[in-house]
Amino acid sequence: MLRRLHHDQPDSFSFTKENLTWAKNQIKKYPKGREASAIIPLLWRAQEQEGWLTRPAIEYVSQMLDMAFIRALEVASFYFMFQLQPVGGVAHVQVCGTTSCMICGSEELAEICKKYISPNQLELSENGKFSWEEVECLGACSNAPMVQIGKDYYEDLNPSKLLNILEEFENGRIPPPGPQNERFAAEPASGLTTLKEFKNEKLRNNASVDLAVTLKDTVTWLGVSKSKSKSKKQEN
Ligand code: FES
Repeated sequence: MLRRLHHDQPDSFSFTKENLTWAKNQIKKYPKGREASAIIPLLWRAQEQEGWLTRPAIEYVSQMLDMAFIRALEVASFYFMFQLQPVGGVAHVQVCGTTSCMICGSEELAEICKKYISPNQLELSENGKFSWEEVECLGACSNAPMVQIGKDYYEDLNPSKLLNILEEFENGRIPPPGPQNERFAAEPASGLTTLKEFKNEKLRNNASVDLAVTLKDTVTWLGVSKSKSKSKKQEN
């Protein structure tokens, strides 16, 4: 799919105070002269702040990292994780349509998105809350079919489970990500066959689900940061 900058762009971008501090700390992780290696986390944080990745945001990040704008644009336009156009304010649903997910029912998931969100990909739903697109393999093939929403994976889906997830978002709740069929991670659906001694009955969530459920490091972050940046704009 051709990925271009959106025709309608804001005038400017700058990180919030909190995000600027975070970005400077990220840059410090890399050796002198290699600061450009921080490009992906900084672009991702800019996208989380604005909801999508604008041209001024890409320019701002490229200047922060002392790299040519075209280099930053190459990264932004290559990876599907970066949204170069406005997406749903509550959730942008990325449906994996590659082999494992297709065999396990991703086309039915896309049908749900067409009915619930919009017939066309990358088009906002009528209320502006949702958008969707089909993407290439997201690396969770053993939990096919799956979708990515924000930074979370919702796995082992079927149409009614996806519909339920969208309705939860619509009603202001964040459904727990991860496998939606009671699996802990990517073990056999019938249960562990090896390494059974490492099974910990007390652990309810795998590490990535735990980030979302316990630390709340999930799409809520997007909502919080967006409302902060909005109120900042309103103050100005
Ligand atoms: S094929 Fe869907 S995650 Fe790999």
